[in-house]
Amino acid sequence: MGNGIAQVAARTGYEVILSDVKDEFLQRGLKAIDKSLQRDVDKQRLTGDEKQSIIGRINSTTSLEDLSKAAFVIEAVTEDLGVKTEIFGRLDQITPRETILASNTSSISIARLGAATRRPDKVIGMHFMNPVPVMKLVEVIRGIATSDETYEGVRALSEKLGKTALDCNDSPGFVSNRVLLPMINEAIFALYESVATRESIDGIMKLGMNHPMGPLELADFIGLDVCLAILNVLYDGLGDPKYRACPLLKRYVDAGWLGRKTGRGFYEY
Ligand SMILES: NC(=O)c1ccc[n+]([C@@H]2O[C@H](COP(=O)([O-])OP(=O)(O)OC[C@H]3O[C@@H](n4cnc5c(N)ncnc54)[C@H](O)[C@@H]3O)[C@@H](O)[C@H]2O)c1
Repeated sequence: MGNGIAQVAARTGYEVILSDVKDEFLQRGLKAIDKSLQRDVDKQRLTGDEKQSIIGRINSTTSLEDLSKAAFVIEAVTEDLGVKTEIFGRLDQITPRETILASNTSSISIARLGAATRRPDKVIGMHFMNPVPVMKLVEVIRGIATSDETYEGVRALSEKLGKTALDCNDSPGFVSNRVLLPMINEAIFALYESVATRESIDGIMKLGMNHPMGPLELADFIGLDVCLAILNVLYDGLGDPKYRACPLLKRYVDAGWLGRKTGRGFYEY
């Protein structure tokens, strides 16, 4: 998700710093950006020169300190409360006081991320959809302390990036994943209980409901670890057993079968 956001921001004309913990992860992200832009060059939606100048606007670093002059930060690290609060605490120390700290979290409370900083008024949810260059929506989530100014700034940025911003309150899973994940989880239960094969489950939802991807295929695309993390946030946050993650999903995540990104999930890649 981080590389998708970086690509869209650089294409809009912003100078971007892409940060991750290891150089190999940065290289993987930069490769994905190159591949995605090359597709646009091949389809003549972009010239080779434009592609090069977009790439030229993206710098990468494994040192968070390099964000010390960032005017705007969009965090897209692992969907884990501990990892995210630690990052928000550090970003609060590193970046200028007026910098907006947005999170691409799929489900985690914006109020909790804000509380990890001394500027909760500047903390907000900016939830992009996958793949970022293609999907039009940004779900904008105001925490209890998010200021009007921060909110307006994020709406304006979303529009500049060519996205449509839609508002949502700070509730577990927001709207998108509160509705989507129970469907994916139910599809996994259907597979677990041998109601149908993976191909049938996905085919039924594609042909019958006009969904562009079947729910198991989509889970692989999102990442099974991310799906499990979101279901756990829904389950803990809303306290309703209907969000209980299917044991099959847990087993796959335990096995390291995380979907497309590891070459195996409900399908093999
Ligand atoms: N996968 C999706 O479809 C999707 C859609 C919308 C939002 N999101 C959200 O976006 C975020 C990222 O999801 P993803 O699917 O890209 O996950 P991912 O696991 O593919 O990528 C997370 C990246 O964060 C890096 N990271 C971990 N700890 C870090 C740290 N301390 N400092 C810097 N980098 C760190 C990892 O090395 C990894 O490259 C999550 O919050 C997720 O919920 C995901």
